[in-house]
Amino acid sequence: MYINREDMLSKKQVMELYDRLAKNRFAIIGRVPLLDYLSNLKDGSKILDVATGTGVVVFKILETVVPKVIIGFDLSVKELIEAKNVVKEFNLENVHFLRSDGENLGFRDNFFDVVTCNAGLHWMPHKEKCVKEMLRVCRKGGLVAVYIPDRSLDHAQFMQVALDVASKYNLKNQVSKFKHPSYNKDEAEEIFKGAGAKEVRIRQIRREFYYKTAIDYLAEWKRWGGDKIFKSLLPPKYKEQIWNEIASELNRRYQTNKGVKIISTSLYIEATK
Ligand SMILES: C[S@@+](CC[C@H](N)C(=O)[O-])C[C@H]1O[C@@H](n2cnc3c(N)ncnc32)[C@H](O)[C@@H]1O
Repeated sequence: MYINREDMLSKKQVMELYDRLAKNRFAIIGRVPLLDYLSNLKDGSKILDVATGTGVVVFKILETVVPKVIIGFDLSVKELIEAKNVVKEFNLENVHFLRSDGENLGFRDNFFDVVTCNAGLHWMPHKEKCVKEMLRVCRKGGLVAVYIPDRSLDHAQFMQVALDVASKYNLKNQVSKFKHPSYNKDEAEEIFKGAGAKEVRIRQIRREFYYKTAIDYLAEWKRWGGDKIFKSLLPPKYKEQIWNEIASELNRRYQTNKGVKIISTSLYIEATK
């Protein structure tokens, strides 16, 4: 049974987090893995991108096809401003960005050919509601495509090191409560089936990243707010000490001649109704 996320960050906190991140997001994201796997995009399609952020998925799609209409949705106004600036700058037609909640899509049934959601679903407190909505607005024969971190494996190296460091401080129990805000393959399948998907295909994707030092890797945790969630489990006087020890230990254990090697695992999910 998948966990409910209400105990982690509320919608308001997620919105504030991404409002803060908005300015840098184009610089951070190079590739969009979801689009490496999504194969049925065609000219003339009606496309919805849920939790679009600064519209990275939308703009990448526009590099390859000419949709009839493409709409990006997000909670964060500041992320959407970044996206709207690009639309204005390049005078793009049939591209719209709207503020709304992914759990409540205000479109009529069966309208879109493709509904995408890249690295957004795991932030929704009621993920099944969002998947239900994505399926509802997607036409029969259309496709819902979602990309999320794989909770069972992503950050496995971090967790192993964190648990080892924490046990020196007798804090292993607290640290073992840390849950990455995502799902594993079975949980994802349960969510999509529970939301009424007829067919669900899930691919596990493993990628290797090399960082100059573990600090560069942990800087990514800071960007998505993971450091705060993790540190909230620790007594104040040990927060920084443990974080720094985790960095040194990651450097020591995973150093290669190309840099610190971190494995990241994600799920690419395709669903139809
Ligand atoms: C990691 S970012 C991904 C953004 C974009 N899809 C991309 O690939 O660059 C997660 C996004 O989910 C959005 N988000 C989180 N909860 C949401 C919700 N309930 N409704 C709509 N957007 C949401 C955040 O505001 C943020 O922009």
